[in-house]
Amino acid sequence: MPIPKAFLEELKKRRATAQAGAGEDKLEARRKKGLMTARDRLGELFTAGTFQEWGLHADHDCHHFGMESKSLAGDAVVTGVGMADGRVLAAFSQDFTVAGGSLGRIHAKKICDLMEYALKVGCPIVGFNDSGGARIQEGDDSLSGYGQVFFRNVLVSGVVPQIAIVCGPCAGGAAYSPALMDFIIMVKGTSNMFICGPEVIQAATGQKCTMDEIGSATAHATVSGNIHFVAENDAHAAQITRKLLSYLPSNNVMDPPHSPVTPLDLSPDPGMNDLVPSQAKDPLDIYKVIARIVDGGDFLEVQRDWARNIVVGFARVQGIVVGVIANQSAVKAGTLDIDASDKSARFIRFCNVFNIPLVTLVDVPGFLPGVQQERGGIIRHGAKMLFAYAAATVPKITVILRKAYGGAYLAMCSADMGADVVYAWPTAEIAVMGAEGAVKILYKREIAAAADPKKAEADLVAEYRDRFCSPYEAAKKAMITDVIEPAETRAAVALALRATLTKRETRPPKKHGTIPL
Ligand code: HXC
Repeated sequence: MPIPKAFLEELKKRRATAQAGAGEDKLEARRKKGLMTARDRLGELFTAGTFQEWGLHADHDCHHFGMESKSLAGDAVVTGVGMADGRVLAAFSQDFTVAGGSLGRIHAKKICDLMEYALKVGCPIVGFNDSGGARIQEGDDSLSGYGQVFFRNVLVSGVVPQIAIVCGPCAGGAAYSPALMDFIIMVKGTSNMFICGPEVIQAATGQKCTMDEIGSATAHATVSGNIHFVAENDAHAAQITRKLLSYLPSNNVMDPPHSPVTPLDLSPDPGMNDLVPSQAKDPLDIYKVIARIVDGGDFLEVQRDWARNIVVGFARVQGIVVGVIANQSAVKAGTLDIDASDKSARFIRFCNVFNIPLVTLVDVPGFLPGVQQERGGIIRHGAKMLFAYAAATVPKITVILRKAYGGAYLAMCSADMGADVVYAWPTAEIAVMGAEGAVKILYKREIAAAADPKKAEADLVAEYRDRFCSPYEAAKKAMITDVIEPAETRAAVALALRATLTKRETRPPKKHGTIPL
């Protein structure tokens, strides 16, 4: 006996009603405004036909104030699991057409159930955030719901990658779920994220500001450093997500998706020699160096527009996935400051927890001098970098291109800080401080007393540089593995990566270290 038709018809009707969210007219109105619906967004992420929705028939708890007769389709969030580029992915997408995408008890439970599933099966989580925040009618039930989401964000942290896409409002405490995830992608123009909005700020402090100044994608990408990527629109956000995932393992017990090239291309790259400026004080554009080392020049930069004195991002070197950390001497002379330290420490820790080898390119004159830096706690922030590198047990390959001075030399993963292989170019200057500064401190009186002080100082600087800064001096003391021609860098890094991929390093068992946060 076939299933009675009425059952099938009811299922079809219920599905259609739930999928329409707050109604086809509202969905259409969004599309007319150039905005995607919650389901359109998931459609951009998953391979067509692979998304299995969970909790389509969910609805809110009907006993809440003024809501007794209302239905909220899916409780304002679409959740489920599907395939993206051949891999399993869990995702949720808040539906702004239903009660402003607000988070109530069932909404939170759907997201929590999804995260627990991702934890069990070891798949990444992606969340489209588009919500008015805690559902006011549900009172402390929605507050509790947020607490449960945050708790699970932390539970899965370091086990599976978590990516937040902010594509609408993300206000108040609600911003903390994206903030607890690994990467935030914000959509330009249609999204904002803040703890206290302009009205609250003005009421509390008298300060006037605009939403753009405090909560826009641009503000977070360039000033606060809260986000990692800016997308032009929702489809672009999904594209960035998939690109990012192409470098990440699905979980912390898997290797990243390496695709080793065989045989290795070990040919020299003479163009690299031409990149090095003849004067040490002239900037070396680090993007040009990265582009010649990584496959096809394909580099997914993270936090491109914040703390631009350091560059971090993902790439492949002859097929091996790597995290690149590199000083940019074209910005603030490549010094390390508070923001650069925070940016790189976080990136290093992400790579370490997901088994991604680190390639560090050093061209650093030191930590940035300044009252603001000292009073802002550069000691604490700089220590994060030292901590992150020393604690990382993934393969660590360091190339010293030019300056590598003082504490910043150590903070850029020197051998003493646990680098497995350290190459230096002949232009490398490894020293406790720059030759000019050292000579001024050590020979102030002698220079002043000389017949020609300028010449005396220049001679001393040249002698100091030769005797104390030369890479051959460091090589003599086994501080570096080898001095290489810039042209040999690509091949040397590729070989070092292959030779360190099987690295196993055990540390004393402990709950966790106490990174100076
Ligand atoms: C219930 C909400 C809601 C909310 C919006 N809606 N936010 N319903 N709870 N938090 C509903 C509206 O009533 C409206 O319903 C629909 O969603 C669309 O909202 P509009 O205001 O018409 O849209 P828009 O003009 O685009 O403005 C969007 C908005 C605004 C900026 C997000 O709605 C807003 O300011 N909402 C309140 C934000 C807020 O204060 N949230 C609570 C924060 S407290 P109808 O039926 O008319 O379509 C919080 C604590 C969390 O989040 C703590 C966690 C630690």
